[in-house]
Amino acid sequence: MSATPASRPPRLNLPAIVLGVAVIALLNLWLGAWITPAEGQYRPGYLVILVALLLPGFLGALVSGLAARHRFPTHGLMAGLGMFLVELIWGAVGGELAIGTVIVRALGFASGAALGGQAAGRMASYLRSARAEAADRVAGASDTAPLLEVDGLSMHYRTSIGWVSAVDGVSFELRKGEALGLVGESGCGKTSVAMSLLRLLPENAEFRGGSVRLNGVDLLDMTEDEMRSRRWSDIAMVFQGAMNAWNPVYTVYEQIREAMVTHFGGELTEEQIRDRVGELFDLVGLNRAMVDRYPHEFSGGMRQRAVIAMALSCDPQVIIADEPTTALDVIVQDQILQELKQVQTALGMSIIYISHDIAVIAEVTEVMGVMYAGRLVELGPTAEVFSRPRHPYTYLLLRSTPSVTGPRRVLAPLEGEPPNLVDPPTGCRFHPRCPYADQRCREENPAIEVIDPQSGHGVACWNWGSVPVRISKGVEA
Ligand SMILES: Nc1ncnc2c1ncn2[C@@H]1O[C@H](COP(=O)(O)OP(=O)(O)OP(=O)(O)O)[C@@H](O)[C@H]1O
Ligand code: SF4
Ligand SMILES: [Mg+2]
Repeated sequence: MSATPASRPPRLNLPAIVLGVAVIALLNLWLGAWITPAEGQYRPGYLVILVALLLPGFLGALVSGLAARHRFPTHGLMAGLGMFLVELIWGAVGGELAIGTVIVRALGFASGAALGGQAAGRMASYLRSARAEAADRVAGASDTAPLLEVDGLSMHYRTSIGWVSAVDGVSFELRKGEALGLVGESGCGKTSVAMSLLRLLPENAEFRGGSVRLNGVDLLDMTEDEMRSRRWSDIAMVFQGAMNAWNPVYTVYEQIREAMVTHFGGELTEEQIRDRVGELFDLVGLNRAMVDRYPHEFSGGMRQRAVIAMALSCDPQVIIADEPTTALDVIVQDQILQELKQVQTALGMSIIYISHDIAVIAEVTEVMGVMYAGRLVELGPTAEVFSRPRHPYTYLLLRSTPSVTGPRRVLAPLEGEPPNLVDPPTGCRFHPRCPYADQRCREENPAIEVIDPQSGHGVACWNWGSVPVRISKGVEA
């Protein structure tokens, strides 16, 4: 899948049209000389003359339609029409404008250009589907296959006091068009997972194992150059706090443009970039008249919307939004979440939302993962994890979070603090805070286990059966 920001009207592709007109002109000159030979030479029959009249328009339109990058076969028609006008002027200037010839020429160009335009369109759609099939074959992908597969990902940071085990054996899958949430307390490794997926890690970071397959290709096996070419165009990120990272001396347009030029090179004209940035502004609910303003002329919410527009600018298949609405007031937060959701649905894009705010995850995701101390401890359909959390940490986290729509209940604070990841607890890392911990929990690390094969709900806990089924039980107000 390659998401396209929005349908856009066909624009004139001048080089394609010029190429088409050139083909028509050359063929016309050659055939013109051939069908009006000097005295005593071969005289072609009417059928040959008719074909000769049709052929320039047809081939010219075909060439220009194809040269327009298979996108706008109507350029074939434009080329045919253009050439017909050239013919008219040519004939008028040369004093040879006979009405019969004009009509035959007109028919020749119109039908030739129409056929050429259609052929170019058909060929374009054939090439497109052949390419898509080939891409699917290479990736071994189908609509049901995961787009992104993270398997046993582990990453540590080196610090002066030892290695920080920030990501430890994290596995999850993301399907096309799916929204997955990662939730957990501050410092549990959410951003570290995201940065590992993009391989945008600081010098002191080191992968300790696992794989990150996008369309079946492991990103961790790629060279830095290969990775650079896939970053942003395949997988992009809205960074935590990015709305404050705009460069104040450049306009927002200049900064988004720079990202697009870096990734599309000379593929897009200045006009196309400007149109695209305008479309992206429309998509994220910003007024496109504001593209040339400086970041300080935007409100916080607007700056965050512009960050999202920038992340969308290279048509990524996957977007990671790390705390996309933190530091914004609840109304703007809600608007931005709704807009992100709409954009994701409209573009069929996959998205990973990262937040410490479980309510945000509930609102916008279909699947959610709960992280604790660098590990993924629960993963499943968002509605199910919310209504029937099976990991004690998820259960306690939900019990400590107010619910706007559910029954009123007394909130129970989550006691204790996440552990120091330089020296994490043995066995299950949650055991020092867990009311259900036993000896086994202190010694053995539970792997995530699927407890409901139908929904895929998984939990990493030896005693998940002891967790109460109803969140509000015993603590109703
Ligand atoms: N560059 C770094 N060097 C050393 N340790 C780091 C570095 N970046 C993060 N850490 C540590 O890695 C762990 C995970 O941090 P991370 O930023 O991924 O957490 P987070 O879940 O995103 O937290 P928050 O919700 O506060 O953004 C923390 O213990 C943090 O101190
Ligand atoms: S494995 Fe043990 S300590 Fe860990 S969450 Fe489950 S019950 Fe608690
Ligand atoms: Mg973070």
